Amino acid sequence: MDIYEKIVELLKRRGFLWSSFEIYGGVRGFVTYGPLGAELKHRIEEKWREWFVYKQGFVEIESPIIMPEVVFKASGHLDHFTDPIVECLNCKRKFRADHIIEEATGMVMEGLSPKEIEEIIKKENIRCPECKGRLGQVNVFNLMFKTTIGPYSENRGYARPEAAQGMFVEFKRVFTAMREKLPLGIAQIGKVLRNEISPRKGLIRLREFTIMEVEVFVDPEDLSCPRLSEVEDEELRLITAEMRARNEEKPLVVTAREAVEKGYISAEWQAYFMVISKYFLSSLGIPWERQRFKEQMPWEKAHYSKQTFDHEVYLERFGWVEVAGHAYRTDYDLKRHMEHSKVDLTVFKRYKEPRIVEKVIVKPLEDVIKTDFGDNASKIIRLLKNIDPRELKNSFEREGCYEFNGNRIEPRHVKIEVKKEKITGRRFIPHVFEPSFGADRLVYATLECSYSVKENRVILKLPRDLAPIQVAVFPLVNKNGLPDIARDIWNMLKEEGIRATYDDSGSIGRRYARADEIGIPIAITVDYQTPKDNTVTLRDRDTWKQVRTPVDKLLNSLLDYFKGKKNFDELGIYQE
Ligand code: ATP
Ligand code: GLY
Repeated sequence: MDIYEKIVELLKRRGFLWSSFEIYGGVRGFVTYGPLGAELKHRIEEKWREWFVYKQGFVEIESPIIMPEVVFKASGHLDHFTDPIVECLNCKRKFRADHIIEEATGMVMEGLSPKEIEEIIKKENIRCPECKGRLGQVNVFNLMFKTTIGPYSENRGYARPEAAQGMFVEFKRVFTAMREKLPLGIAQIGKVLRNEISPRKGLIRLREFTIMEVEVFVDPEDLSCPRLSEVEDEELRLITAEMRARNEEKPLVVTAREAVEKGYISAEWQAYFMVISKYFLSSLGIPWERQRFKEQMPWEKAHYSKQTFDHEVYLERFGWVEVAGHAYRTDYDLKRHMEHSKVDLTVFKRYKEPRIVEKVIVKPLEDVIKTDFGDNASKIIRLLKNIDPRELKNSFEREGCYEFNGNRIEPRHVKIEVKKEKITGRRFIPHVFEPSFGADRLVYATLECSYSVKENRVILKLPRDLAPIQVAVFPLVNKNGLPDIARDIWNMLKEEGIRATYDDSGSIGRRYARADEIGIPIAITVDYQTPKDNTVTLRDRDTWKQVRTPVDKLLNSLLDYFKGKKNFDELGIYQE
């Protein structure tokens, strides 16, 4: 068994998570989180909130999962959110066409059309991986789940494949509610759906998963990130698109500031979020040596992105796996939603001081125009009312006239006035930077990085603030009043918000082992000495060290420990 299989077995057996709909044979790409898994996932989401919402001063929203078709027409997902698909002519199974070639030949498909992929399948004589049958035509398959909204078949809707569109569609309201200030970071955690063609990698490729996204809206004339200076010396490990083109696999190690100055990363905000991303993953217990940032090649980038870096984590079975995408989405989405909704999504930024500008105004002299142009006069008047005055002025200066559909408009047809005007600010469409994380991939990466074996026993060394259960309370034996004392301690801890469990079945050694396997950082044992001096034993999951501490100090010590203010050794007096 490789580590993946061992983890999957443990997760099922201990009720962290499993494939959904088991009693009906299961459906690929869906998982159910059980008691421990749901809590672990919430802890990871909460950590993300700490790093990407609270510490940044951003705001979180919750928008619908189902959206009307027009949203995805505007966002480009109807046209672009596709994968190439191929069917086996014999067994009728369907596969991701690019993945099938990759698996059969090791060749990575680079931005090829369905026709080109089909030719490679023919040329390399690639067959169905399941039945060796011949493969048919390669088509494109849109990954969005389609539905209808209400009982009207023409009222099409789609399940969102990213949360981001919610932030764009609702931008104007959030911007107003947040007193119209930029930069504005809008965050969202929620379910997204992608009808993946053949998901076969557990939590890595699901059809329904949780995304954690931030869209930061900024002024395109000021792309600087005010907080980059706080983290600019932090090292990033990059594989740029240029390096990939040269087949260079060894990452370039540069500081965040250098990466921007040397142009590897296109904007300060991107570099800033990549550092925060590194901190966040490290707080999940994912070592820095197992992380890197890989720039997407032009043909890999989503249709909206100017530059994307994938944050990747090394996993034993799957190799380097993307857990987050850091994209510079420019003004693409807001602009498209403006075009489709016809609603003004620009923002107004006030200048510190009003500015005086010269404004050129064109006034058509209607009598002269009517005399000179007859039937064409009204068209020409309309043109002159809407023309860019600078264009007209320039043309008069250069050519002495302005040509329009064979009509020669001369300076005597208009009156041009130059007026001074006070301008208080400017209107523009904000640009957007986006860090986008998949929560489920992070659950798996966190588990793999915490999985360890000591003396043939599994210990899940989850960071203490991620552990689904923080404390286990055990009576040493199931008699002599020890269970009652242990239950009182358990109740007291639960009351104070500590996630505690109680267990009195089996030998104490077995109970410790069960606790280690699901990552409970501290076990409290009520033993024969407890009724005598009101002290208990605390046992550390990772070192198996034990300390003794008075019950009345227990709560505060544990709260400090879980806040990271105390180490295990500081919780009591060491005992052999
Ligand atoms: P991949 O290339 O692996 O399909 P992607 O480029 O489509 O991923 P994004 O569109 O950037 O991924 O999605 C943002 C994040 O959502 C990813 O970094 C990943 O963590 C997560 N994610 C994407 N697809 C899935 C999936 N099918 N199952 C679980 N998580 C996913
Ligand atoms: N919002 C980023 C993505 O889904 O690709």
